[in-house]
Parts: sequence; structure tokens; C-alpha cells
Amino acid sequence: MAAVSAPAAGSGLDFGIGIDVGGTWIKGALVNLGSGTPAGGVRRLRTPSSGRVDDVADTLDQLISELQSESPGHGNLAAGVAIPSIVQRGVALSAANMDGSWVGLDVQSYLESRLGRSVCVVNDADAAGTAEALYGAGKGQRGVVLVLTLGTGIGSALLVDGRLVPNFELGHLEIGGCKAESRASAVVRENQGLTWVEYADRLQQYLSHVEFLFSPDLIIIGGGISACSTEYLPRLSLRTPVIPASLENAAGVVGAALAGRRLKDGQAQYV
Ligand code: BGC
Repeated sequence: MAAVSAPAAGSGLDFGIGIDVGGTWIKGALVNLGSGTPAGGVRRLRTPSSGRVDDVADTLDQLISELQSESPGHGNLAAGVAIPSIVQRGVALSAANMDGSWVGLDVQSYLESRLGRSVCVVNDADAAGTAEALYGAGKGQRGVVLVLTLGTGIGSALLVDGRLVPNFELGHLEIGGCKAESRASAVVRENQGLTWVEYADRLQQYLSHVEFLFSPDLIIIGGGISACSTEYLPRLSLRTPVIPASLENAAGVVGAALAGRRLKDGQAQYV
């Protein structure tokens, strides 16, 4: 099967609004879906401290209004919203670093009526992984590609010949009685004051296990920590090539925007 390619400009899939909801910041951008780039840069607003879905919806409304007013020629754009939850058919089935009001809610329908536009809700790592596979470090790559986002938790996206297997929660793998993301996320490194050598040891243990279970052809490391990849990637010893993501902090918004446009245009939500 051929790897999925980015929509061509002028195909009706050229622009969309992408939102990435994190524990601290909510990022948003008007995304050019031909190139996979935020047209006017990435804006961000603080995530409401309550983490409640209604408070977050207020912030999304503000952010989307700002983005829409920057792009008057584009009509009422579809929005894709990436959240740190398992998402099945628009319903959040978990909530990492968010309030429990998300769990069990059809977030997609709720946001559609709250925001008055077509909305697609996806897992944040699935959004970032799709964007890396289509426009970034995994572009054109066949076979099994695993994108891991190292941040507050560990997000994971699995793509097979360019097609996403959604909700692949590999941050929750247990290794030695501990959840992987509570030992090897970027925030754990900071909070525990780990040296890069100590952190690389933890990543090595985690990635070896993942490699043994899934035999990926390529592992892409995303999240803010991908910018410091020279500190830990050379210390890893795996048979799988491991490379840094290339879209940096825009991967989530780009992938979310693509999901939003695909859903609005009646295509399968996932690539
Ligand atoms: C969540 C995932 C999410 C990841 C990154 C994990 O704790 O379970 O759904 O993708 O954090 O935010």
C-alpha cells in the first residue's frame, strides 16, 4: 500500500483550524493543509486551571474566533481538536491531566454545538503522529512507524504504511511494575532532575520493550524534548532507527486541523 500523501492545494482540503489541548497551554493555528504548516504561526492561551470541559470550551471559542478573524477569506472553517484522552467516535474515554468531566462525554458533539462549526476530536498523539507521518519526519515512510510524544505523559501513534491505528496508548505500558510515562516522560525527567545519561537509560529500557513487542521500522520522538535529541538519542542502542520529529510544537495542531477538514469533507476521520 502506498503511503498516504498530503492533500493538494486547491483540493478543497487546503485550510483548517487545528487546536491542541494540553495541561498548561491550548495551542491553535490556521493550518495550510497542502504544506502542513501553520499559516500565521501557532497561538496559545493558558488552559483553564479547573481543566473542566466547559471552561476549556470557552477558551477554544476565544482562540478559534481569533484565528477565524485572521482569515476572513476562508468562511466558517472546520476545526480539529486534539485532546490528551482516548477518543472513540468523538467520545472521550479517559482524561490525562484534565478534569473528570471529559470522561464519557461526546466531546465532539458538545464542541460542535458550543462552537457552531464542524469539529473533529482526536487523541493528541494521534494528531501529532499523523502530521509527522504526512508532512514531517515520517513523510513517505512505509512499514510500521511509531511516533512517541514525550511531554507531561507519553503519547503514542502507530502508523502502518501511512495508516493510523488510533488510540495506541503505549505510555501506559507497565515496565517493572511502573507505568512507562511515570518513569520516562519529559516532565518526569525535569521533576526528578535526571541527567541526560540517567534519562537515556530509562528511555532505553522503555524503547527496547516497545521494540520487542511491535518491531517498528522507524521510531520518531516528538514533544518539546525532540529539540534536545542530541542529548539522548546517541546514547540509545536499538536495532530500530530512532529519529527526532520535525514539526516541533506544531505537530498536534497540524494533525488536528487535517482531521477536522477530513471529517467536514465526509472522508474517513483518520488517515
Ligand atoms: C494519555 C494519552 C495522551 C498522552 C499524551 C497519556 O497520559 O493517556 O491519551 O496521548 O498522555 O498527552
